[in-house]
Amino acid sequence: MSSYTILVVDDEPDIVDLLHETFAEAGYSVQTAHSAPEALALLEHQAPDVIVSDNRMPGMSGIEFFEVVRQRHQDVIRILMTGYADLKIAIEAINRGWVYKFITKPFKMEEILVAVRRALEYYDMVHQKQVLEQQVRQQNAILEQRVQERTRALQTVTEELALKNSKLLRQKNEIRRLFSSLQRSYLGTIAVMYFALESKDRYTRGHSERVFHYALHVGHKLGLPPSDMVHLKYAALLHDLGKISVPDSILLKPSQLTPEEYNVIKGHPVVGATILDPILFLQRTRDVIRQHHERFDGSGYPDGLHSELIDIKGRIIAVVDAYDAMRSDRPYRMARSRDLALEELNALKGRQFCPRCVTAFEEVLEELGDFYDDPGLLDQYRDELRFMEEDMRGINEIFTLNAVEGVVA
Ligand SMILES: [Fe+2]
Repeated sequence: MSSYTILVVDDEPDIVDLLHETFAEAGYSVQTAHSAPEALALLEHQAPDVIVSDNRMPGMSGIEFFEVVRQRHQDVIRILMTGYADLKIAIEAINRGWVYKFITKPFKMEEILVAVRRALEYYDMVHQKQVLEQQVRQQNAILEQRVQERTRALQTVTEELALKNSKLLRQKNEIRRLFSSLQRSYLGTIAVMYFALESKDRYTRGHSERVFHYALHVGHKLGLPPSDMVHLKYAALLHDLGKISVPDSILLKPSQLTPEEYNVIKGHPVVGATILDPILFLQRTRDVIRQHHERFDGSGYPDGLHSELIDIKGRIIAVVDAYDAMRSDRPYRMARSRDLALEELNALKGRQFCPRCVTAFEEVLEELGDFYDDPGLLDQYRDELRFMEEDMRGINEIFTLNAVEGVVA
């Protein structure tokens, strides 16, 4: 039994009965009407799958009837039965989409059954296509919704990651800042210890400060770049830092040192460099401090470096350090005069000292004057020490005290 329903419309009862019988035998459900208005009234309640209608009927023709049906029930298959005389009108109706097919009277029952079957098959195909298209549209909508959901989830994760990243970055910067602060605090502590130690010895008091000013001016005269100048400043101030490890019995010995004692003193460039090891921003300073007792001809210590292999900053400090040491009294010898000290530098030029550095220092000494002879000169250059105020808190006070004879015991 077919599930399709066919509505037969014709004003001739015999034809209606014949078609009713034929379609029913073929398994279709059949409804009948004897005029177009009667058929339209039926359609108000239920639309069939197929309408087979005569054209020539009183009141309303089949074509007019189908035009109304098309507007109200677009999917209903419309088959028109027409006489030969109305053929032209029927073709026009097909072209306008009002009628699916027409069958000319008289017709064989078999012919009309085939027409109905084919029409139903065609509409089934169309219907299945529509169902498939609908399913595809629904699937696409579901997929699109999932893509949107995933995109939103991804955006949320990305935003959360960005937030965490920026938080981590802030923490990293904070750790870096704290680490740098810790390093500078460490530097300040050891530097203050060193300068306090230097101040205790009347023979060395103020030595590092004088070396600092001389070295700074020689560095400028030799055209060192700003990055080198920073390390020259620190190295000049801290060049004898390693002497912290030398016992007072050796450091303050009022007589000539024994060879063993001298060897202990000779360890101070390496010790000084080692103390600065943990301070990352002073790594280049550390190397200069290690080299400040190297000699131009390679006979110095601790590494026996020579000529240009010794950092220019180390060579500068070697010259000004030796000059200031010669100018000051030592327990075992008297201070040399400025001329004798310069004579000694020149005599050792190219052997112990870098020739360029000696020449530059002579010019600097001519321009600045001698800090040992005139400690008051240091006050004129006190601003040059400002760079280390942040790193070495308390050092300014020590230098100020140094300037007042006898305050630091
Ligand atoms: Fe030294």
